[in-house]
Formats: sequence, structure tokens, C-alpha cells
Amino acid sequence: MKLYTNPASPFARKCRVIAHELALKLEEVNVNARDDDSLRAVNPLKKIPALVLDDGSALFDSPVICEYLNDVGGGKFFPGLSVWRPTSGRWKALGLQALGDGIMDAAVACRYESTQPEERRNRDHIARYMATVKAGLDALEPMSFSETPSIGEVTIGCALGYLDFRYADLGWRDKHPKLADWFAKFSQYPSMLATAPS
Ligand code: BEZ
Repeated sequence: MKLYTNPASPFARKCRVIAHELALKLEEVNVNARDDDSLRAVNPLKKIPALVLDDGSALFDSPVICEYLNDVGGGKFFPGLSVWRPTSGRWKALGLQALGDGIMDAAVACRYESTQPEERRNRDHIARYMATVKAGLDALEPMSFSETPSIGEVTIGCALGYLDFRYADLGWRDKHPKLADWFAKFSQYPSMLATAPS
């Protein structure tokens, strides 16, 4: 399996964490999605992550790839549905994943906007993206996280890791001490250490 990825991408990091946890071997191809038109032949949306399977077919984006890797690796990152246990944790896991993905979307878009030449930079967009990141952090602060990480915890970990990587001055820990405590432990998982953004 070949993963089109980028060492800074928090979305690709989700897939790399799941693969690491399940000891799945991925060939990683680092690309710069914005500049690399050849990526379009792999993913018509020209986005990473994209996973090319051994039969040549491709999967995207990160929620689909992560669920696929979980399936082939026999993982427990996507709790199943059960008529006997309707609160199996599936909706909590998927809801957390959606919240984490949304924080990443805003943080990555804000990073792109902030690195545009001054005359093309849109300050309203930057303010709107940062408001989304901060509201996402506020929503996470009162939440409890599972000791057995699901795709939800993995996604939140990758989102917070990206904030530390690109927004080191944000100081998100000051107003989110519970989240900060959780991340201090979560970020020490070997799979998180092995996939730290660069
Ligand atoms: C970044 O440089 O921050 C970045 C690169 C690729 C995907 C997402 C973010």
C-alpha cells in the first residue's frame, strides 16, 4: 500500500498513526499537494492523504483511509454498531473525528492564508479560521476521552499536534488545561512520537 502524504499534514498523520498502531507497512510518498499536478492521477481532488491499494485503486480522504486501515489491520479504532449496545462509542468516536477534522481544516486553511504575500492575504478569512479553531478547542475542553483511543482521540491528538507545530504562540493550553493534560500523555504514544510533524 502506498500513502501519498506530507510530513506536515495532520490529516495524513491520522493514517500514519493508525498504520503504526496496527503494524501495517505503508510506502510513504511525500508530495506537496498544491504544486504537484501528478497527484491528480492518484486523487482527482488533488489532495493528500490518498492511499493506493495493491490493485491500483485509490482511497481518500483521511476518515475513509483510516477506517480501511483499521479494517485490514483488525483494529478497534472504529467501534462497531450493535443493536444490543447502541452506545458502543461509535458516534462519540465519529463525532470527535469530525470535530478534530474541522479544527484541522480551519488551521491548515489559516496557515495557507497567513503565508500568502501581504497584498493577497485576507485578514477576515484568517480571523474566521482562528475563531473556528478556538471554538473547537472550547468544545473539547469539557469532554472526556477514552483510555482506549478511538479514531476520535487519534484525530484530536493530530489536530493539537498541528497547532503546536504551526501555531506555537497560540497558547491554547492556558484556557484548556484539561485538554492540555490529556494531550501531554497522548502525545507520548510511540505512534504519535514516530509521526511528529516536520
Ligand atoms: C503545512 O505545511 O502546514 C501543511 C502541509 C501539507 C498539508 C497540510 C498542512
